[in-house]
Amino acid sequence: MTDVLVLGGTGWLSGRIAERWADAAASVSCLARGGREAPYGTTLVVGDRNDPGAYDEVARRDWDEVVDISSNPVHVAAAVDALARRAKHWTYISTVSVYASNDEPGADESADLLAPAGADEEDDYGRAKVRAEASVRAALGHRAAVVRPGLIVGPGDPTDRFGYWVGRFALAGGEEVLVPATTGRGAQVIDVDDLADFVQAIGRERWTGVVNAVGDPVDLDRVFADAREAAAHTGALVPAADAWLEEHEVAYWMGPRSLPLWLPAGMPGFWTRSNAAYRLLGGRLRPLRDTLERTLADERERGLERERRAGLSRPDELALLHELQA
Ligand SMILES: NC(=O)c1ccc[n+]([C@@H]2O[C@H](COP(=O)([O-])OP(=O)(O)OC[C@H]3O[C@@H](n4cnc5c(N)ncnc54)[C@H](OP(=O)(O)O)[C@@H]3O)[C@@H](O)[C@H]2O)c1
Repeated sequence: MTDVLVLGGTGWLSGRIAERWADAAASVSCLARGGREAPYGTTLVVGDRNDPGAYDEVARRDWDEVVDISSNPVHVAAAVDALARRAKHWTYISTVSVYASNDEPGADESADLLAPAGADEEDDYGRAKVRAEASVRAALGHRAAVVRPGLIVGPGDPTDRFGYWVGRFALAGGEEVLVPATTGRGAQVIDVDDLADFVQAIGRERWTGVVNAVGDPVDLDRVFADAREAAAHTGALVPAADAWLEEHEVAYWMGPRSLPLWLPAGMPGFWTRSNAAYRLLGGRLRPLRDTLERTLADERERGLERERRAGLSRPDELALLHELQA
């Protein structure tokens, strides 16, 4: 029996990774604080990674595979300290936000990284991940895989970003939707289920190295067109210029009162990273339309008018449309 430890496992991606391993008949333990259930067929080990004794129980035995998703470099360092000698293989989930530049289209895994976060800089996401990657590689060396996903999308997304568009088009039906100017802009997403399959596969094969886990670059126009088709939206798109949106305090990319996936101009490398290694390793990339349809079903279930972590509320959007067209 393969013994797998997921540090996390009750969250979105980590839960799906734990599920994949359980489906592959592994014995899976998920270490988390215990506020949420671990996936069916896995065992929850309750521990808070802020507590120095968090790994005591899981450090008493050997693991074929350890998966860590934490973005806290102190937690990651403590985990490798406690568990590296117990693990045959370790997969660390990092991010493409570790790269220093978003200027170069098509850059691969050899691109320069940000400087690692120092002490007291653990909230600096990209730099914190750089520091975490470094501790994994220093402790595990040739036993470690570092996976750098781009924007993870699909059903259950706790960040509410990608689902905003298909959900909004469905909610608007025959009415107008506010969009950013799309010229020269695109997105590069990976379906959470393709990513979970990939992470399980490289753990099974004990592949080591660093790999971007990103989809193919796609124009933002195309994302909107496919999302509208999936949602049967027939209303018009009303584009607003960057300066107008900025003046009206609409945020880029994520968070409340944002237009998700909208990026400042001049970041061509952000949505065109190389996925050649991912593909070479057999990583799957399902059609965007498939992801959009599953995301829409999930959006409908969670409520198209719910309070979101990202995007505009429909009343806010209508007020902005009114002002833009006045
Ligand atoms: N979303 C994106 O588009 C994106 C893009 C690139 C990379 N990523 C990376 O993808 C990963 C996302 O993983 P995820 O979806 O599973 O995250 P998540 O939904 O935030 O789950 C976090 C997991 O860690 C556990 N956890 C948090 N704090 C803990 C603590 N103090 N002690 C013990 N356990 C703790 C949580 O369980 P409890 O809360 O129950 O303790 C949960 O199981 C992250 O590495 C992120 O950086 C995300």
